[in-house]
Amino acid sequence: MDYLSISSLQVDYNHQKKTNPALRNVNLSLPRGSIGAIIGPSGCGKSTLLSVLAGLNQDYKGQVLLNGKLPKETGEAALILQEYGLLPWKTVWDNVKLGLQIKGLSKTETADKVEQILNKLGLFSLRKRFPTQLSGGQRQRVAIARSLILQPELLLMDEPFSSLDALTREEMQDFLLQLWKETNLTILFITHNIEEAVFLGQKIFVMSECPGTIIREYVNPLAGEYSARGQLEFLEISNSLRSCLRGREKTCV
Ligand SMILES: Nc1ncnc2c1ncn2[C@@H]1O[C@H](COP(=O)(O)OP(=O)(O)OP(=O)(O)O)[C@@H](O)[C@H]1O
Ligand SMILES: [Mg+2]
Repeated sequence: MDYLSISSLQVDYNHQKKTNPALRNVNLSLPRGSIGAIIGPSGCGKSTLLSVLAGLNQDYKGQVLLNGKLPKETGEAALILQEYGLLPWKTVWDNVKLGLQIKGLSKTETADKVEQILNKLGLFSLRKRFPTQLSGGQRQRVAIARSLILQPELLLMDEPFSSLDALTREEMQDFLLQLWKETNLTILFITHNIEEAVFLGQKIFVMSECPGTIIREYVNPLAGEYSARGQLEFLEISNSLRSCLRGREKTCV
């Protein structure tokens, strides 16, 4: 059985006495230890889907299972929000420490773990800075450190690199790939960048306009290949996904 399994998921938002459908009949599965990428038009329900998986939105119809359990029953998923969700009045060290404090670990145990993860992500020398004193890429790494310290099994990332310049973005993609190779993480991320989806996503899910559903699922043979960027096949896959996204292919599936 797949680690992540979603079938017939439906989410509606009730706003000012009106029901707005956000997700319709979403079916998605992802094996343990793999990377999935979701692409889709703005407002199609991508963030909504992640909030269901993170257990934050429990008001849905259909079946959503993580390792055979409901999202709210597992403490296995960590969600990194669209704007990283760092607390501006806390230092890098304190931001990363947050999750462990909530878990109630001892002071020395906490300090050891924070030091270890900051070193791993190349952030130790920045530990006394505040988020505003960091570059976008560094901020993103702090957000990842804050999630990883809780040793999640599933990392959910909502447009993780969208505010970064092109070069930093590629560096962060390489960094995420390296991190994934070193851990047994299952990763599901949202992106508006098709090339990013093709570089990182072993499974790529294309969503329709709102109410969102999955109109194409693509098993990507080029995922994680550094040399694939710029290759003809890479461009062909990207173009095919782009056409699908723009509704130019009649049958995407
Ligand atoms: N709390 C809410 N109440 C009412 N409607 C909402 C709420 N949150 C989101 N929506 C609506 O649900 C739909 C899906 O929103 P969602 O944030 O999941 O989209 P998205 O695909 O992540 O968009 P983007 O790419 O712009 O981040 C949108 O039409 C949005 O306006
Ligand atoms: Mg969103």
